[in-house]
Amino acid sequence: MKKDLLSFADMTAADFETVWRRTDRLKKLYQEGREHASLKGKTLGMIFDKSSTRTRISFEVGMYQLGGIALFLNSRDTQIGRGETIADSARMMSRYLNGIMIRTFAQESVEELACYASIPVINGLTDLLHPCQILADLFTIREKKGTYEGITVAYIGDGNNVANSWIEAAGRLPFRLCLACPEGYDPDRRILDDAACGNSEIVLTRDPFDAAANADVLYTDVWTSMGQEAEQQERKKVFQNYQINGQLLAVAKKDAIVMHCLPAHRGEEITADVIDGPQSVVIDEAENRLHVQKAILEMLL
Ligand code: CP
Ligand code: NVA
Repeated sequence: MKKDLLSFADMTAADFETVWRRTDRLKKLYQEGREHASLKGKTLGMIFDKSSTRTRISFEVGMYQLGGIALFLNSRDTQIGRGETIADSARMMSRYLNGIMIRTFAQESVEELACYASIPVINGLTDLLHPCQILADLFTIREKKGTYEGITVAYIGDGNNVANSWIEAAGRLPFRLCLACPEGYDPDRRILDDAACGNSEIVLTRDPFDAAANADVLYTDVWTSMGQEAEQQERKKVFQNYQINGQLLAVAKKDAIVMHCLPAHRGEEITADVIDGPQSVVIDEAENRLHVQKAILEMLL
């Protein structure tokens, strides 16, 4: 694995398996209540330019359980929020900390931070990508289905950061990804083209029923991501047919599972009966953020 986790370009197929094998072990130790303080004395800085529940809690609790500590750095309360450069912040933080997790807007900011930091930098979500989420999602699929090999994931909705990371993963691992996105809301073209270069099986359609037909996993995310609040009303109109509901679930495989990175908006991208129904695994998926995060932290720090 490289120094940083900024995107899946930093990981080989073997790296994914290494993360998940260690996650299996860490999850078991956690469930058995056994100590696993492999990062004793280590410190993670967590820079947040956007809100978070799961990412913050899982990294913070994860560091604690591994014997280290995490510092929550709301960028508004730091000098970064007052214009201190990313380069100075990176160089200086590298003298205090053992790693940095950052959630921000531009992917370029995360890359700049990693470029100037001598310590590992982890992407905790940008407008472009959300790699830690998809690592936990594929781990969840591996748990529920035994493997991700040969399975079909149907992604319904916005071609956003979560969709882009799904595409990057599908470009590296042997599973099929069918995305249904409305016109004008496609995933990043460069990421799609890069993924298409390999042996990946990625299909982009406008019809959610085409994408969901015979799928093993139905996946969705919010229609309006953080930073797009001004577009919310327009997006509600554009996306109204891109909802995971009972009719869509009926065309997937009988034993299909339903996933969502959360937070969810019931009645928008997913109906309450489906997200709270028997095929939904969203809470297990959220729990797995913790276990996967710990494996990532151990490997990088
Ligand atoms: N899924 C996810 O990243 O959730 P948070 O925004 O709560 O961190
Ligand atoms: N696409 C969403 C994901 C939240 C975890 C957002 O960026 O707001």
